[in-house]
Amino acid sequence: MIVSSAPGKVYLFGEHAVVYGEPAVPCAIERRATVTVDARTDDHIRVEARDLSLDGFTVEYAGDTGYRPDVDVPEGLVDAAVGYVDAAVEQARDAADAPDAGFDITVESEIPLGAGLGSSAAVVVAGIDAATRELGVELAPEELADRAYRAEYDVQDGQASRADTFCSAMGGAVRVEGDDCRQIDTPNLPFVVGFDGGAGDTGELVAGVRTLREEYDFAADTVESIGDIVRTGESMLADADPDSEPTDELLSELGRLMDFDHGLLEALGVSSRTLDNMVWAAREAGAHGAKLTGAGGGGCIVALDETPETRTALRYTAECRDAFRAELDREGVRVEESGPDASARSDAEPNAEGERR
Ligand code: PMV
Repeated sequence: MIVSSAPGKVYLFGEHAVVYGEPAVPCAIERRATVTVDARTDDHIRVEARDLSLDGFTVEYAGDTGYRPDVDVPEGLVDAAVGYVDAAVEQARDAADAPDAGFDITVESEIPLGAGLGSSAAVVVAGIDAATRELGVELAPEELADRAYRAEYDVQDGQASRADTFCSAMGGAVRVEGDDCRQIDTPNLPFVVGFDGGAGDTGELVAGVRTLREEYDFAADTVESIGDIVRTGESMLADADPDSEPTDELLSELGRLMDFDHGLLEALGVSSRTLDNMVWAAREAGAHGAKLTGAGGGGCIVALDETPETRTALRYTAECRDAFRAELDREGVRVEESGPDASARSDAEPNAEGERR
C-alpha cells in the first residue's frame, strides 16, 4: 500500500491567458489531496472518494469505465472524479508497463472540487505517484508532472495548461509558459482564500474566453495584457528576498496587479457576482489585492493580507461559505505512508467484502 499526497494551488496571476501561451504563476498551498493505492490481484479498479464536495461514494469497475453503479451523489461529480482517477491509473499502468494492473484507490481531499484550487491536478498527481510506486516504479517529479498533465489534458478534451499539474507535483511558486515550466523563489506570500461553496465549469469557461478572443481583437489584447501583468509581477518577485518576510511595498505592488488581473478576467466574462462580492469584501477589509483563482464562474478568490482582517470580513460576507489562510506549500507531491508491496501481501486475509486489502 502506498499513500501519496499533493497540494492544491492558487493562481497569483495568469489563469486563462496561460491557455494561449502567456505565462502564469500558480502557487502551491497547504491543502492536499491524499490518495491511497493498494494493488489488486485482478484488473479491477475500485475507487472510494471521501471529499469535501462529495459526501463519499465507492465505485468498482473493470475494463469499460462507462459503467456506473447507483450512487447517492450527482452523476456529473462522480464522472468527473472517476474520470481523473481513471486517467491517473492509465498513466501509472503505462509508466510501469503493467497494462492489466488493478487497484483499490481511496481519495481524500481537503480541496473543494472545481473551485479554482487545483483539486483535480492534486488528485491526479498523488494518484499517479502512489500507483506507480505501488507497482515498484518511482517517477521524478518532472515526469510525474508531465504524465499528470497528459491525464488532465485527456479528461478536459485538450483544455488544460501545464500550470496546475506542474505546481502540484513540484510545490512552491512556479512559472508556466507553454511547455516551459520552472520553479521560482518567492517570499512566503500571505494568501487568504474565500470559497463561495460553488464550482465553475472549466471547459465551458475556457471555451467562452476562446470565442471572445476570436471574435474581438480587444479580447485578444486583454489576454495579452494579463500576460503583461504576469511579467511585471514576476520581475517584482525576482527582486524580492525569498528568505525574508515580504515587504509592504512588494505586497502592495503584487496586490495592485492582482486587482488589475481580476478586472481583466471579469471583462473576459469568467467572474461571477459571488466572486466579485468576495473580492470587494477582501479589498474593503484592507487586503493588498484580491482576485478570482482558477477558471472562475464560482468557487474561490485569493487575497493578499498578512492581518486577520480579510478572513474575518469574508466570514461575515453572505456569499462566502468558507474563508481560510492558505500558506505557500514549498513541498510538492510526497509519500505519506508505504506498506509492504503487493506481492508480499498476495495471500493476505480477505476483508469483509471478500476483497484482498
Ligand atoms: O479552475 P482550475 O483550478 O482548474 O484552473 C483552470 C485554469 C485555466 O487557466 C482556466 C485552465 C488551465 O488549464 O490553465
